[in-house]
Amino acid sequence: MSSQKELIDSFKKVCICRSIKAGTIMSAIRDGSLSFEALRRKIGVGTGNCKAKRCRSNIEKRIKDYKDGQKEEVETPAT
Ligand code: FES
Repeated sequence: MSSQKELIDSFKKVCICRSIKAGTIMSAIRDGSLSFEALRRKIGVGTGNCKAKRCRSNIEKRIKDYKDGQKEEVETPAT
């Protein structure tokens, strides 16, 4: 993902109930919160009125994409 896209994405509200933006979620993931439960404890995602019905799948996808990105970095030999 290009950095401009990342910047635009970071302003999107992912957890609508708690008004938690993608940027907050992504930095918590980078800090090591690599599960939905860990993110819930750290930044409170999924604790709003919908009880994570609206945000859980989006957040889990972000965790998965982050982990996949990490794997690629390890597997791709530096040139
Ligand atoms: S959108 Fe996250 S708890 Fe409702």
